[in-house]
Amino acid sequence: MKNNTHEGDRHIVDDVLSNIANNYLQTKAKSYAIASQEEISDSVNEFWLHLNLGESIIGPTPTALDKTRELSLIDILNYPEEQLDGLKEAISEFYNISKDNIVLGTGSDCLIETIPRVFVNPGEISLATAPEFFRFKDAHQRAGTELLFVDRDEKDNYTFTTKVETRLIDKINKLKPKVTWISTPNNPSGQIASLEFIANVHEHVVKNGGILVVDEAYGEFNDSLNEPYTAIDLVKDKANQLIVLRTFSKGYGMAGLRVGYGVVSDDIKDGGVFKEWALPYDMNNVGAAIAPLALEDQSHMQMVRDQTAVRRKLMEDAIEENPHLNYVRGSVTNILLAKYNDGVGKDLNDTLTSLGVKVSNQNPYEGTKDRGYARITVGNDEQVKDICNILRRCK
Ligand SMILES: Cc1ncc(COP(=O)(O)O)c(C=O)c1O
Repeated sequence: MKNNTHEGDRHIVDDVLSNIANNYLQTKAKSYAIASQEEISDSVNEFWLHLNLGESIIGPTPTALDKTRELSLIDILNYPEEQLDGLKEAISEFYNISKDNIVLGTGSDCLIETIPRVFVNPGEISLATAPEFFRFKDAHQRAGTELLFVDRDEKDNYTFTTKVETRLIDKINKLKPKVTWISTPNNPSGQIASLEFIANVHEHVVKNGGILVVDEAYGEFNDSLNEPYTAIDLVKDKANQLIVLRTFSKGYGMAGLRVGYGVVSDDIKDGGVFKEWALPYDMNNVGAAIAPLALEDQSHMQMVRDQTAVRRKLMEDAIEENPHLNYVRGSVTNILLAKYNDGVGKDLNDTLTSLGVKVSNQNPYEGTKDRGYARITVGNDEQVKDICNILRRCK
C-alpha cells in the first residue's frame, strides 16, 4: 500500500517534470526563431534562461557542501560568537592583516547599506562614477543623503581612464564628498580601475576629509592578472579613510549564505563607528562556518576564474560576429554589458525578454540610462551555448 502510494507520487512527479521539460524545450525552440521574434514576443511570459544575477554558476567548493553535513545542533542552537571569530581569523590569515581591521556583514550589501548611515549626515553629499552598482545610490537615498555621479565616457568604452580620474578628483576637491564609491571590477561593466587610479583618488579623498569605499565584490573573478590586485594592499600599507568590501557571494558561489566583509583602515578599525551601528550578531553560524572553506580552496576558485574567462570569451566572440550588436570591452568577470549598435533603434533588453531570456536591464541607471544596455551573466556551458546562438542572431 505504502509502496503504491510512493509509486503514484513518482508518476505525478514524473508528469510534472516532463511538463516542465516540454515547456522549457518549446520555449527554447521558440527562442531560437530570432527572425520572427515579433510573432513570439508576447507569447513567452516565462523566462527559461536566467542570466541576470552575478553569482558564480559553477557554485562553491565541494568541501563547503561536505561541511554542511557536519554541522551540529550547537551551530543552530547557539548565538554565533566563536564562529564569527573563526571567520574573522580565516580572513585575517588569508590577507595577512589584523582581525581588528575586519568587519562582517550579512552580505556586503549590509555594509553598503550601513556606510551612508554611519558616515554621512543629512545634507552632505557623496560621489561615484557612472555606471555603478545601483545599490550605492539606493543606500544613500534610504539614509536620506545624496549620491552624485561623474560619468565615465561611453565613447571611451566606459573605461576608468586618466580623463575620468582627473574629472573625479576635481569633483572631490570641489564638493568634498563624505563617501566616494568605486566598484572594481565594476558592476555593471566588469572592468577594473587600476590600483594607481584607486591610490590617486584615495589621496584626494583623504585630503578632503572623506572615506573611499572600494567594492571588490567581483574581485575573485578578476582574470586580468596572475595575482589579482586588491585595495586591501593599501590598507596594509597603512592608508587611512579606506574601506574595501568583499563577499563570498560572487566568485566563491555562496550568495545564499549571505557572508560579506569589509577590510577597514586602522582609523576605522576595531569596528570603529561600524560597531555603534552593528546588530549584536552580524553573521550566522552556518555562513561563518562554511565561508572559510572557500578561502582554503583557491584551486577551485582558479578553476571558476579560468572557466568563466573561456565562456565570457565565447559570448564576446558571438557578439563580435553580429554586426548589429556591441559590447563593453574589458570585463574581467562573469558579467558582460551589451547593446544594439546606435542606429539599429532597438533595445537588447526587449529582444532578450521577448525570447524568454532574463538579463539585468541597465536602462534605469546613471551612465547607461535609456541606452538599451543589457548586463548578461556568464552561465554554464549549456547556457553559454544558448545565449551565444541568440546573440549571434539578434537583429
Ligand atoms: C558590486 C556589488 N557589490 C556588492 C554586492 C552585494 O553582494 P552581497 O550582498 O551578496 O555580498 C553586489 C551584488 O550584486 C554587487 O554587484
